Amino acid sequence: MRLQGRMAVVTGAGSGLGLDTCRALAAAGARVAALDRDIAALDAVRTELGCFAHIVDVADAASVSAALDAAVAALGRPYLAVNCAGVADAAKTVSKGAPFPLPTWDKVIAINLTGSFNLIRLAAAQMVENAPDPDSGERGVIVNTASGAATQGQVGQAAYSASKAGVIGLTLPVARDLAPHGIRVVTISPGVFETAMIAGLPPQVAQSLIDKTILFPNRMGRPTEFGALVRHIAENAYLNATVIDLDGGARMTAR
Ligand SMILES: NC(=O)c1ccc[n+]([C@@H]2O[C@H](COP(=O)([O-])OP(=O)(O)OC[C@H]3O[C@@H](n4cnc5c(N)ncnc54)[C@H](O)[C@@H]3O)[C@@H](O)[C@H]2O)c1
Repeated sequence: MRLQGRMAVVTGAGSGLGLDTCRALAAAGARVAALDRDIAALDAVRTELGCFAHIVDVADAASVSAALDAAVAALGRPYLAVNCAGVADAAKTVSKGAPFPLPTWDKVIAINLTGSFNLIRLAAAQMVENAPDPDSGERGVIVNTASGAATQGQVGQAAYSASKAGVIGLTLPVARDLAPHGIRVVTISPGVFETAMIAGLPPQVAQSLIDKTILFPNRMGRPTEFGALVRHIAENAYLNATVIDLDGGARMTAR
């Protein structure tokens, strides 16, 4: 699908994978709507890219509706929607005799899983009104972000892994729902990327993680590599209803 001049909405746009997705889409000529809950980060994105930026809490249905409505009013209906907002709060199922705190579970599921589906359903309702692309017949593309933890979760990742497995699980049925409308759905499953989410790791712990888990290259993924894949998914009309591992062949260990 052509991106030039088309509206592309990205959540988690203030940092990491979402930020480099915005950069890649802007470079492709898309009209980017950057959504995040971090106002300072949004200001930085707006300054750098000159794009539309709006506060959102993806776990709040009214907030996503309001942000998407504002984006549509400013830029027109979306042709691409990218779910990058996410959190990785961790806890063990039982720790020092205490069970996993359910508020942590609820938060991770609300942001990573319900939040992703929230944007999917609202953006898709807009996309079905788009005129089909004259070349491909497409009305839109949806890209979600799962994680290698969906199937290889580490100690403490029960909520995170469940949320990401949910994102993988919804990919096919949503693609089936939207295929009659010419809307494709693809999920990226990243391995370990150099972003704020893992920036807190001491260097030796980070290198040990790389050495233990990643086949080749011997480094973390770069957010630019994620952004480039989102652009490719948008532009390659034959990618649909699939999950793409972007992970240097990583196989996670228990810790
Ligand atoms: N970095 C990795 O190694 C890695 C690996 C696998 C999957 N992922 C996934 O990639 C996605 C992006 O992660 P990242 O590494 O870029 O993290 P990041 O922390 O750099 O960026 C996440 C962004 O999401 C925003 N956000 C969080 N909760 C939100 C909410 N409720 N509403 C709106 N915005 C919210 C944050 O403000 C932040 O800007 C996440 O879904 C994450 O689970 C990351």
